[in-house]
Amino acid sequence: MGKVILIASGKGGVGKTVFASNAGAKLAQEGYKVALIDMNMGLRNLDICLGLENRVVYDVADVLTGMCRIKQALIKDRRFPELYLMSAPQNKQKAEITPLHMKVLCNKLKRNFDFIIIDAPAGIGEDLAVAAAGADSAVIVTVPEYAAVRDADMLDQLLLEMGIKKRTYVINKVLANLISTGLVPSIAEIAEIMRPDMAGIIQYDENIHIAANNGLPIVYREGTYIEKNFKNILERIVEAS
Ligand SMILES: Nc1ncnc2c1ncn2[C@@H]1O[C@H](COP(=O)(O)OP(=O)(O)O)[C@@H](O)[C@H]1O
Ligand SMILES: [Mg+2]
Repeated sequence: MGKVILIASGKGGVGKTVFASNAGAKLAQEGYKVALIDMNMGLRNLDICLGLENRVVYDVADVLTGMCRIKQALIKDRRFPELYLMSAPQNKQKAEITPLHMKVLCNKLKRNFDFIIIDAPAGIGEDLAVAAAGADSAVIVTVPEYAAVRDADMLDQLLLEMGIKKRTYVINKVLANLISTGLVPSIAEIAEIMRPDMAGIIQYDENIHIAANNGLPIVYREGTYIEKNFKNILERIVEAS
């Protein structure tokens, strides 16, 4: 049976989609069969981050409303051994999806995949409840910014109330020089606020931004410090999942 990992954040723009695409790619490089599901209804991004936007025909709403079969909505990323994407719909109205629908979909995918990675919408609203419905564990993405850390903590509390006991978090867009000025929260300060264990830290690196804009998960290039860092982070996440 596979495992469903939710990638979530309180605040938007912290790097969930970039993290989800690289987490999926990394796990596929490690030999796992992975499905990435974009649950940003009406605001999908994961297809662009993976360079698969021209191949999307069916989406998760089509699957959940019975318009197509699961297999038809899974696009294979040919650069990685077993990495598949299921996109979110472009049209939000199209998606009248309940948490129960999502749970059923996740349970079906668990039979065929080792990991199902859900790129959740930002925030703590109804869309998150749907995205999180089938999750076995969650990774909260945050950045060294007081507002983002408080939002991450609020989200963590909500995920706990939803029954997701296995939670870790990642601090993204870290600028060591800036942190050393004391003008933004330090890693230790963030760790003090957050209840779950930290899975890792990702530097702010314009190469990550450029790769995402060009549809390439940056871990594709093996041997870089970024790829090694993702590998370590994913090891901790798999252990906690
Ligand atoms: N570690 C990083 N270094 C530099 N830029 C990053 C990093 N992580 C994400 N970004 C950039 O930050 C922006 C928001 O990332 P995204 O993954 O879309 O966030 P979210 O899905 O949480 O809204 C994008 O422009 C992305 O390229
Ligand atoms: Mg996103």
